[in-house]
Amino acid sequence: MAEPRHFLEIDDLSREELTAVLDRAEAYKRAEANGEDHADLEGQTLGMIFQKPSTRTRVSFETGMTQLGGHAIFLGADDIQLGRGEPLKDTSRTLSRYVDVVMARLFKHDNVEVLAEHSSVPIVNGLTDDAHPCQTLADLLTIHEEAGGFEGVSAAWVGDGNNVAQSFVIGAALAGIDLTVATPDGYGIDDAVLERARELGGDPTTTTDPAAAVDGADVVYTDVWISMGQEDERDVRTDAFEGFQVNADLLEDAPDASVMHCLPAHRGEEITDNVIESDRSIVFDQAENRLHAQKALLSWLLE
Ligand code: CP
Ligand code: NVA
Repeated sequence: MAEPRHFLEIDDLSREELTAVLDRAEAYKRAEANGEDHADLEGQTLGMIFQKPSTRTRVSFETGMTQLGGHAIFLGADDIQLGRGEPLKDTSRTLSRYVDVVMARLFKHDNVEVLAEHSSVPIVNGLTDDAHPCQTLADLLTIHEEAGGFEGVSAAWVGDGNNVAQSFVIGAALAGIDLTVATPDGYGIDDAVLERARELGGDPTTTTDPAAAVDGADVVYTDVWISMGQEDERDVRTDAFEGFQVNADLLEDAPDASVMHCLPAHRGEEITDNVIESDRSIVFDQAENRLHAQKALLSWLLE
């Protein structure tokens, strides 16, 4: 049997494959809007393992499978034997005998690799501590819609160099988006991720100055300062990120920029309420595009 394709990081797709998946996402979005039948995964089942909470990822994957004529099963990590110590490799081999594809939201990135190593069906990373490629897929779809393409687009990331940021750095390189990342010292993007972006032809600029990063940007993107699992670091992180809030003052240097956030947002911390509620905010387009992008990914992986 052929080895399954997995989607653990955004560059598990080549540039051409990324384009194909984004084109398919746009087609699904149109089909849904026009009420056209697109039950391309009839009879197929997605297993969804969650070690962390979720609103968008869970609902968009589950709804996406329904719209494609398939079915999704929510597997909270504490509701399955994984939570009582069943090894991931056994969970993976067992699920492979039942379902057609597995999406997993886990803490350690190594663990999604273990799932993939032992699976005979595609494994999709629904967020780990290091990466969130499904979010990047939706982000790229959103930027493509907003800007009419990727050519000449400049983006700024402001805040934590976290999972969402790291996948976005790699995705921006794949798409040819010019990117500047502003993070406090000690909270930057991993060197290995920056290296991967350069290998893909990107040239991300890194700085500790948010104002310099957003200057003239088309897109300003941020995410929470305290990610799931980092709750004990709240005080030290809140201090470290002072000056990295996306607010009206910061955006004065980026008068035409759209503002992105993967959500959930912590208003008053990494972003202000008036920015997220403003006309320039495209955060709910991003959230909607999770649905279309993941439907495209699933049907592409299962082809
Ligand atoms: N952006 C995102 O992944 O949201 P959820 O945590 O709600 O799934
Ligand atoms: N960086 C955030 C993203 C949530 C979708 C977290 O990991 O909690």
